Amino acid sequence: MKKGWFEKKIENISKLGGYKKPDKYSNAIKLDSNENYAIDISFFQDLVNQTREKMDVREYPLGGTERIVAALADYIKMPKEMIGVGNGSDQIIDLVLGNLASKETRILTSEPTFGFFEERCKLYAIPTTKIQFDDQMSLRLEDFVANSKKADILYLDSPNNPTGFQFPRKHLEKLVQSFNGLVIIDEAYVEFADYTIVDSTKKMNNLMVLRTLSKSFGLAGLRIGYFVANKKTVDAFSRVIQYPYPLNTVAIEAGILALKKSKYFTDVVDLVKRERLRIIEKLREMKVFKVFDSKANFVLFSADGASKRIHKALIEQGIVIKNLGKVGKYDGCLRVTVGTHEMNSKFLTAIRDLLN
Ligand SMILES: Cc1ncc(COP(=O)(O)O)c(C=O)c1O
Repeated sequence: MKKGWFEKKIENISKLGGYKKPDKYSNAIKLDSNENYAIDISFFQDLVNQTREKMDVREYPLGGTERIVAALADYIKMPKEMIGVGNGSDQIIDLVLGNLASKETRILTSEPTFGFFEERCKLYAIPTTKIQFDDQMSLRLEDFVANSKKADILYLDSPNNPTGFQFPRKHLEKLVQSFNGLVIIDEAYVEFADYTIVDSTKKMNNLMVLRTLSKSFGLAGLRIGYFVANKKTVDAFSRVIQYPYPLNTVAIEAGILALKKSKYFTDVVDLVKRERLRIIEKLREMKVFKVFDSKANFVLFSADGASKRIHKALIEQGIVIKNLGKVGKYDGCLRVTVGTHEMNSKFLTAIRDLLN
């Protein structure tokens, strides 16, 4: 039978890589996905238990989005009309690209950038220009400015996944202000970083700042993403583009409760930052790796030719980190998520033993 347009289209889509999900290991120390294990599971079990009384899952979550948006507005001290939500910030990225971009839209971003964003650009065949990281695993403002005029969308994760790099505030502000198209700043890891540019959304109509409760709040499994932008953008997105019920009832109720306890999460973030420094220092003391600074809840380091061996040997010991291969100019890069003090110590001891 002759292939129709549909079969051809599916064939072409199948040829794309798609977002590669991490491998699943049971009973492992999971330091590969930038989740937040520094918060004890009992805290979340309590949280979800408390939501039970508030729920009637026979109903659609009518009014739920508005309630969690109000809680988010309280948390980030921004007007609720400037906040939209999504089933993870992944969904927001997908909906923005799927509805606002096309084959004619040119995107400017970094290499590497968030993997899912790259995959979506491929899916929608959106052409991208990628700015490379330099020897210090930093991005240079001039490289972006030089390419700005030719781009319609600027996407930057700030801090960047997987390098942990964040532009100095002045540089990012300058870049964002000089860009004429849509600017998407993905602040998934911002609580671990030095600054946010969320306030700039009050002055700039072309800026969207993406956020999530998956990282600092440790709620990756509930899939709660949000974004901040000017009121018109949020209204068009939430009323027309977004699904009527983007978040489920459990996510809404647990998310609201977590946001009420935001002080607790601030302490957790401080702990993660202290542990991040410890990992960086201990890895540097081993004198065999190139270890990069990080403003996120993970650390990138190059183990060069030894990376595959280290990655495999750690898995054999029940410790999973992310094997990235070449990042920027460095071969054999590995990314380790900051976990609890105990998890991090196990990782550091295992890696030190491997070197002996
Ligand atoms: C830069 C960046 N943005 C967004 C996300 C996805 O966040 P969410 O869990 O809200 O979909 C991630 C997750 O790893 C990320 O690294």
